[in-house]
Amino acid sequence: MKLGKIAVVAVVIAAGLVVPGSAPALAHGGGEPPRNPTATGYGGAVSTVDPTATAVGLDVLRRGGNAVDAAVAAAATLGVTEPFSAGIGGGGFFVYYDAKTRRVHTIDGREAAPRAMGQDAFIKADGTPMAFQEARISGISAGVPGSLLTWKEALRKWGSRSLGAALSPAADVARRGFTVDATFRQQIADNSAQFAQFDSTRDLYLPGGQPPLVGSRFRNPDLADTYGEISRRGTDAFYEGAIARDIVATVQHPPVAADPAVPWQFEIRPGGMTLADLDRYDVRFPAPTKSDYRGYTVYGMSTPSSGGVAVSEALNILEQFDLAGLTATEALHLYLEASALSFADRNRYVGDYTSQAVLDELVRDKFAAERACQIDPTKALVKPVAPGSPDGHYGGCTTATAVADGNPGQSTTNLTVTDKWGNIVEYTLTIEQTGGNAMVVPGRGFLLNNEMTDFNFAQAPGAPADPNLPAPGKRPRSSMSPTIVFDDGKPFLALGSPGGATIITTVLQILVNRIDLGMTLPEAMAAPRASQRNASPGQAEPAFITAYGGELGTLGQAFAATPELGAATAIEFTRRGLIATAEPVRRGGGAAGVLHNSH
Ligand code: GLY
Repeated sequence: MKLGKIAVVAVVIAAGLVVPGSAPALAHGGGEPPRNPTATGYGGAVSTVDPTATAVGLDVLRRGGNAVDAAVAAAATLGVTEPFSAGIGGGGFFVYYDAKTRRVHTIDGREAAPRAMGQDAFIKADGTPMAFQEARISGISAGVPGSLLTWKEALRKWGSRSLGAALSPAADVARRGFTVDATFRQQIADNSAQFAQFDSTRDLYLPGGQPPLVGSRFRNPDLADTYGEISRRGTDAFYEGAIARDIVATVQHPPVAADPAVPWQFEIRPGGMTLADLDRYDVRFPAPTKSDYRGYTVYGMSTPSSGGVAVSEALNILEQFDLAGLTATEALHLYLEASALSFADRNRYVGDYTSQAVLDELVRDKFAAERACQIDPTKALVKPVAPGSPDGHYGGCTTATAVADGNPGQSTTNLTVTDKWGNIVEYTLTIEQTGGNAMVVPGRGFLLNNEMTDFNFAQAPGAPADPNLPAPGKRPRSSMSPTIVFDDGKPFLALGSPGGATIITTVLQILVNRIDLGMTLPEAMAAPRASQRNASPGQAEPAFITAYGGELGTLGQAFAATPELGAATAIEFTRRGLIATAEPVRRGGGAAGVLHNSH
């Protein structure tokens, strides 16, 4: 969150925050739920970016629900309180560890391209690709949403509550309202030109033409009603019924304001999503990615996310070096180089339809050794580096031809939950950019995603076939990296983050901080971050540049400053109990809680 950028307007809220009847966790403090970045204890834990969502999740656990029940309830609440990052208009990736069977499962709830979407969806009549905002603020960018079906299927397979029960606390928050914080206001302010283009979005998020004031109460009764309708009629209401019709109408006939306060620079194009696309949508249950790192076993999300493969490959490359014997600068240099190499391969090879054989090769240790041999511990590689050849023949320092990265998203949110039985949910969900495609479905209270802009817009001339071009029914490549790490078969760490393509580097850096650099989990989360995605300069937070920029600069690393990278959540499992962590500062700080605090 960019707290410093805005004037925080002190607004006295009515004493005694109204507390949702079916979300009594929010009443326990007699006011706002706590925003603690770290909580230690036992009996279950929840970490999200938002105190209300964390309180809702903890309350579900307190009432005997399991981690899946709590995760879905918290996610639905984030759809209310973090509506610019995630919601039922979007999708995500759900990773679940079942303590009873000791197996890791995943749900791919990624948005799918409508059947009418061809490879040239983002190519204009003159043959050139659309500008990013031109593509984003359109019906074309909206993919068929997957979040709601993810929640239904997670609950059906592993939960103990109905979807209606899981949506109920969120519906209460939407109806009764919550207190606007600086992040919420700023995210609207950052999107005010986009939001002003649509009557439905302007009416909800720009009342009186301005973002709501920090400290004021924000209500979304339309979303409360939408959750209520889904509770009564099931997900068919969303994928076949009245809500489906409203989604399709919004995509095909965007509710463009006749006289927007801020003129928009581009034509607002309709998209081709149909009722059949919504009806046809289904979640998938791919096998998780699995790799070993210094004795730990790391599970992540497979395609269409590149997260699991990219994190695994980078860890495999790092495993070729003894980081523990190095200075922090030397180790960070290797982290940056491993990340660049891994991104070169992700960009070249990973998309929705990448074969399992290629994915398997990308996470093989022999391939990592071939990639690691490019790294000079004393000198940064010239970026962009060429991808490797995951062809099953390893030994040299072979390289191939590069494919460029796509459009990095900035939005998304993440949550981590565990319960008293030891089940774990690591869940990253999104509507892509902060504010999605900026269209609130009229009368429904939720924003549509712009996930289709995660496709690359055009095949680069002369480059190898791009694995991430649009196609009917295809899912765009993601960077979401919900990750669960085991130590000798026992849960050790669950973590994830938002941040578009920087998700991969944030998760990777937290793992390196925790496993290799001797930091505690709260230290590993708080430490300043850098992101090297096979481009020069890379990105780094100002504190990272202050601490390491000089020495890394002498090794040839270059950075452009960016205010912050990621907004992670995590839980560590120790012999003495749980350490739940969220960001202390980034995005205004997250909220971690445990069911029973250690004293
Ligand atoms: N839209 C961000 C991602 O999927 O990585």
